Amino acid sequence: MSSYPQTRLRRPRQQDWSRRLVCEQKLSVNDLIWPIFVCPGTNKREPIDSMPGVFRYSLDELAPAVKEAVELGIPAVALFPATPPDKKSSDGEEAYNPDNLMCSAIRVLKNLNLNLGIIADVALDPYTTHGQDGLVRDGYVVNDESVNVLCRQAVTQAEAGCDLIAPSDMMDGRIGAIRQALDAAGFENVLIMSYAAKYASAFYGPFRDAVGSAGSLGSGDKRTYQMDPANSDEAMREVAFDLEEGADFVMVKPGMPYLDIIRRIHDQFQVPTFAYQVSGEYAMMMGAIERGWLDRDKTMLESLIAFKRAGASGILTYFAVEAARLLQQQ
Ligand code: PBG
Repeated sequence: MSSYPQTRLRRPRQQDWSRRLVCEQKLSVNDLIWPIFVCPGTNKREPIDSMPGVFRYSLDELAPAVKEAVELGIPAVALFPATPPDKKSSDGEEAYNPDNLMCSAIRVLKNLNLNLGIIADVALDPYTTHGQDGLVRDGYVVNDESVNVLCRQAVTQAEAGCDLIAPSDMMDGRIGAIRQALDAAGFENVLIMSYAAKYASAFYGPFRDAVGSAGSLGSGDKRTYQMDPANSDEAMREVAFDLEEGADFVMVKPGMPYLDIIRRIHDQFQVPTFAYQVSGEYAMMMGAIERGWLDRDKTMLESLIAFKRAGASGILTYFAVEAARLLQQQ
């Protein structure tokens, strides 16, 4: 009797054909959502220091960039506005100005008549001088009053023509309130993807540079509304409430440090669950890639397939266009 194993898991790993046969997950362009930053002005494609390869697009530059993404097969884009400082205020009224940058960007994309989902973020941080996602009263981000404003923001964005509202603010009860507000305004077919489990994370730094909210937030943080990175059961409660309140999809954010949360949600709720590979994850990988410490294409694809393996239906990623190009070549 040989002491060697009868079952050898390396046997199917020997050749490309058998590796392909036993492959469990596949990343497709249909899994990708591209987050895009928009800025005022014309003829602008501004680089973002902490996110090499990512740009802020002025409205006229947005159309060609998005058309290319759609040609590659990317199903949806998520818009984020870099609001000029003179349009910011302590209560963020610009958030529900129908002619703000966000709504203008939505209209530009809508008018292209593409086979494309247009996702609008709901939260006040791009519009407030303090950089918080809600209204601040006596130093506290108040819940219910903020939710009223977020509803107004969501309806304004739906009126501009967005297909999906993505509340990223983490106020309690906002999904139900936004659902009601949308329905009452005749937008019962506009979808909601809730940032259900959004953590108070250090990985949002480069995003705050990109939309220009970093300076506003200063040394402040969002721990009175975003979740503690130590918690997992609490994420299940957040998801349960958001689904009860009418969320169509839920999202986990950040992505890679929270794969366990995606897996738990997928197993417990069987609902479309999305992952946001956030700015800090992108910056971290690109930093190493630019130094030649990591291989760009392999790192990108491995980081994305991990979300599929964890159970995600799709991924918001700044790599979307590059990944789509790579997938096309495969
Ligand atoms: C704000 C918002 C943030 C992100 C998306 N929406 C940042 C924050 O909560 O401070 C982060 C995305 C990223 O880091 O890529 N409502």
